[in-house]
Amino acid sequence: MRHVLLAFLITLFVLASASAQTQGLDALVSHALKFAQQQARQTVSEINDSTKFARSTMPDGSWKTTAAQEWTSGFFPGCLWYLHENTKDPFFKQAAKRWTTGMAQEQFDTGTHDLGFKIFDSYGNGYRLYPSDEYKKVILQAAQTLSKRFNPIVGCIKSWDNRRWAYPVIIDNMMNLELLFWSAENGGSKRLREIGIKHAETTMKNHFRPDGSAYHVLGYDTTDGTVIVRNTHQGYADESVWARGQAWAIYGFTLTYRFTHDKRFLQTAQRAADYFIGHLPSDHVPYWDIMAPEIPNEPRDVSAAAITASALFELSKYTESKPKKAGYLGTAKKILRSLCSAPYLAEGTNSHAVLNHAVGSKPAQSEVDVSIIYADYYFIQAMLRYQKLGK
Ligand code: GLY
Repeated sequence: MRHVLLAFLITLFVLASASAQTQGLDALVSHALKFAQQQARQTVSEINDSTKFARSTMPDGSWKTTAAQEWTSGFFPGCLWYLHENTKDPFFKQAAKRWTTGMAQEQFDTGTHDLGFKIFDSYGNGYRLYPSDEYKKVILQAAQTLSKRFNPIVGCIKSWDNRRWAYPVIIDNMMNLELLFWSAENGGSKRLREIGIKHAETTMKNHFRPDGSAYHVLGYDTTDGTVIVRNTHQGYADESVWARGQAWAIYGFTLTYRFTHDKRFLQTAQRAADYFIGHLPSDHVPYWDIMAPEIPNEPRDVSAAAITASALFELSKYTESKPKKAGYLGTAKKILRSLCSAPYLAEGTNSHAVLNHAVGSKPAQSEVDVSIIYADYYFIQAMLRYQKLGK
């Protein structure tokens, strides 16, 4: 009996995999979005406390939550806003508002560079869908708070406090510029834009190798702005390429071009994207570090894949060269296709999230090969961007 059941399950799995391979991407994306809705509904009732934010999954598949202070807190309300945009279902709006309000205090947090992630993914998405003075005030305050971490001698916003570097700047920090650029265009000080541009220029100059790959952490000298060290924190080695860092670089410089129309930033995004695409394995989901020593026996990182897919949909719009544009669009679709299918889509597994196989920090052995909320956030965003193509 057991053998019959096993054979039946294997047949089902093979049929499901075969159908995923032949199904059109539209159908795969609609299916994955329905699955995301289902998982998010369950997460809302599982957590049911707007001071707790889904972060990553535990071995039994349930969510480990964090407080609003953590850098990842904005992603759960962000997912809920995107799902509301996708479905117009008031359930998601009500839940999104609950968890967004749970983050209000973060607008004043001067101890982090991650205010863009926190406030723009929660309040920013809420404002995009339902503009209100209440939300705008929070966003503008957060931008003002973030600007306090800018040092004009270095020309960058400081990433972390109390670490081994006196003035660390990480490539991830490019993502927080969206909050500054948007705020400068929507009633905030014009200085916020100047800070964003200066940070991007400094990062463009110092953070990249000649082949377009990005370093993770730079330690700066605050007396003259020179780079003291180029290190990694979450990658395999200082001279390796941490996949999510490279994804942040692509996304960060693409959004910087969106606000500035400065071709130097577009070229930086393209060079970072070309490097990333040129090093993807055959299913288009990168290993956690592009140079991880045991490839192919290393964990994948769906978060780097999802961030990049979403960025490439946008980057393709700004790219004039027809073959390059088609290349970015084609890769974004290939990544989505993989993420919408086994083994990455968490359907049929114990995970309460949307995607499986993300890595938080392999060197710290923290959140290795689990589901992580920011992978879900950029996956849902990428699917919505896909559905809007040509509209
Ligand atoms: N910004 C932290 C990370 O990407 O893990």
